Amino acid sequence: MPDPFRPPPYPYDRLEPLKALAAAHEGGSVDLSVGTPCDPPTSAVVAALAASGAEAGYPPSIGSPAFREAATDWLRRRFGVETSPAAVAACVGTKEFVASVPHLLRLRDPAKDTVLYPAVSYPTYAMGALLAGCRAVPVHVDDQWHLDVSSVDDDDAARALCLWVNSPANPTGAVDDLSAAAAWARAHGVPVFSDECYVEFTWTGPGHTILEHGVDGVVAVHSLSKRSNLAGLRAGFYVGDAELVTYLSEVRKHAGLMVPGPVQLAAGVALADDEHVEVQRDRYRDRLGLMRSAFTAAGAEAPAPEGTFYLWVPAPDGDAWAFTERLAKEAGILVSPGEFYGPAGSSHVRVAVVQPTARLELAARRMRAIA
Ligand SMILES: Cc1ncc(COP(=O)(O)O)c(C=O)c1O
Repeated sequence: MPDPFRPPPYPYDRLEPLKALAAAHEGGSVDLSVGTPCDPPTSAVVAALAASGAEAGYPPSIGSPAFREAATDWLRRRFGVETSPAAVAACVGTKEFVASVPHLLRLRDPAKDTVLYPAVSYPTYAMGALLAGCRAVPVHVDDQWHLDVSSVDDDDAARALCLWVNSPANPTGAVDDLSAAAAWARAHGVPVFSDECYVEFTWTGPGHTILEHGVDGVVAVHSLSKRSNLAGLRAGFYVGDAELVTYLSEVRKHAGLMVPGPVQLAAGVALADDEHVEVQRDRYRDRLGLMRSAFTAAGAEAPAPEGTFYLWVPAPDGDAWAFTERLAKEAGILVSPGEFYGPAGSSHVRVAVVQPTARLELAARRMRAIA
């Protein structure tokens, strides 16, 4: 008999013992451990939510025509990419999509059993493999944290249901070469899912989608959570290869996955507006600068990320848990030890600059005091 499945501890629950230490500081703890936005969504989005009139009936699982059109309009505006609304489908935030894709792909192709994902990455890629009873095979990232698709073993590629890429990347901030990922997908006949939820927070130049390199064999995954401060709404979409999007949206319809009607309407309003994203970009840029100099002052040099709202900071003596504990105890700051994102991240900590600037200034003052 196989062992019964027991979910592992949720990564952030492992920080529980440090929370009381951080909270004991005058002014309380400054929680930079989770990438949850703290700034408000626009009032137009909140008004749309309240006035949608979409509460009574079941919403379309694939997404309303207005929501899907808002998504294709945004792709055109932001990236110059033309897609048909028929190639877009809604998801209930993207975490559930990331976690469930391997299971759904395996139903279609039971002979394959492997999910490929970046060696240092958002933990849900590996979790989706585990939940589908698949092998989770990490793909090498280089010393600048960029994904090295050329390193994938041929046997692993032959067994792969999909490869996940994430650019800009959580937790490292790395911006990847998405043309290489798209070419790899086509050369190996393995779908590439490109998680692009941080694309609006690209700092090295304009943000990119994998769809700029064609849609065959690739699916881009987008979220409203970070772009528009709507993590509480649970709205995202996936778009790309018509056959893959059709298959996934059909199965997901049977499974009852639906973005609530009022949320679809409000998410469409958010996608149609780019101004609030500019405001948010400025906030994160300032906060990244503020916390980078605070970490440097405390003896932990934090490189500038290529994207995202995370700093990926080498622990001064290579021990990320010890550094995490020290920050909680001595500065009342909670961060995430890099091990949450894979063993190759175990000498770094991730710092999410998602607290209001005044809280980050408090954190920076405390850090300077422990330097
Ligand atoms: C890389 C990445 N993908 C997906 C998600 C999930 O976002 P949501 O489920 O809110 O769309 C997150 C959230 O932190 C993330 O960092």
